[in-house]
Amino acid sequence: MKTRVLTGITTTGTPHLGNYVGAIRPAVAASQRADVDAFYFMADYHALIKSDDAARIERSRLEIAATWLASGLDPQKVTFYRQSDIPEIPELTWFLTCVTAKGLLNRAHAYKAAVDKNTATGEDADAGVTAGLYMYPVLMAADILAFNANKVPVGRDQIQHVEMTRDIAQRFNHIYGREFFALPDVVIEEQVATLPGLDGRKMSKSYDNTIPLFAGGQKQLRESIMRIVTDSRLPGEAKDPDSSSLFTIFRAFASDAESAAFRQALVDGIGWGEAKQVLFERIEVDVAPMRESYDALIARPAMIEDILQEGARKARAIAGPKLLELRDALGLRSGIAVATWSSARPAAKAGKMPRFASFRDTDGSFRFRLFSADGEELLLSRSFADPKAAGSLQKRIKELGSTSAVLQVQPLALALELDGEAVATTPTYDGEQARDEALERLRGALEQLAAQD
Ligand code: TRP
Repeated sequence: MKTRVLTGITTTGTPHLGNYVGAIRPAVAASQRADVDAFYFMADYHALIKSDDAARIERSRLEIAATWLASGLDPQKVTFYRQSDIPEIPELTWFLTCVTAKGLLNRAHAYKAAVDKNTATGEDADAGVTAGLYMYPVLMAADILAFNANKVPVGRDQIQHVEMTRDIAQRFNHIYGREFFALPDVVIEEQVATLPGLDGRKMSKSYDNTIPLFAGGQKQLRESIMRIVTDSRLPGEAKDPDSSSLFTIFRAFASDAESAAFRQALVDGIGWGEAKQVLFERIEVDVAPMRESYDALIARPAMIEDILQEGARKARAIAGPKLLELRDALGLRSGIAVATWSSARPAAKAGKMPRFASFRDTDGSFRFRLFSADGEELLLSRSFADPKAAGSLQKRIKELGSTSAVLQVQPLALALELDGEAVATTPTYDGEQARDEALERLRGALEQLAAQD
């Protein structure tokens, strides 16, 4: 069984060396493991909580997408998407909001810090605090639970949010009486280095002490490295590697042998200027080839867009059925099922019937899926410009029954034909046997629908 690993990247900044070493590089490496099913996404709804600068968020989304792809993320292997392309996430946020204790959110560190600051300055406790900041942990819980993620790698400041996600999931499971959600575990990468920034404090955009990873090119990288603060020891004087930011950063890129050689050079009194040049050259070995892909990607945003759209499609194929299941459990099932519910026949118990789910595709067209009683996707309709046309096809499928349905068998899929035209297709199956078994289930579902009054 693969472990589903999920993490989000808030789109408010430009990726820097600290992000690369602390988050991007380990995440890309983890995604290459055979036992990992990775979900990485850009948390652009979260970005709105921190920033109202639309241009900055837009720019950041592009830069972060290009950075992750240039750093070796393989979108074929990883589900890589934008949070705002997944309408199931805000929908789930509301479902979770309704089971989340307000007191739980009162205890969130980020909210409490804002309140403490206000109290200290004699302001009203909630001055300047948006409901968005307050709800931040619930949105994050929805990100995680929509995909039933098992492992969530985050920085230390995010541990509490994952713990809250567990609380919220547990509460939901308890109230609705089933294990709807797996409880995620937080993952803190202990070995991963935290890089010091230009001033020696942790590299962070909030300290304005970052070294950009790709932005500004080689020139910017070199200039930033030359600005790293050092002590005032002169060339020829021994330097202390263990208190030097240069050495810490160097070690995050270099092998043990290279690091030992650099350590020796510092002890032997290499000048700071020269040491910075050595550091720059070492980083360039890793960064230069990636920068080349980065620049190529930034120059072709349409290509990035295609990758993200495909990521959203893969993500929604999981979140969509999950949300249908939840809607059912919450009493929000679709109109068809309500009819079933109110019908007198006990056999047609709600939730045990196949059902349709309509949605709007990314191009604005109207489509729907047919799910079996236990939530398996059976059919995906073709696109319609007019929602009514999609609706009348649903109606026809409902009345069809299994015997009059024309199911065209393809190598690894099935297509439903009406009036000689394929109007809906099944997912692709792993083999002929799986396809044939699916055919049986599809026939059964059509039969059930037709039998329903
Ligand atoms: N809040 C996270 C951060 O600031 C980003 C994030 C949003 C996230 N949703 C998530 C991380 C879900 C892990 C899982 O770093």
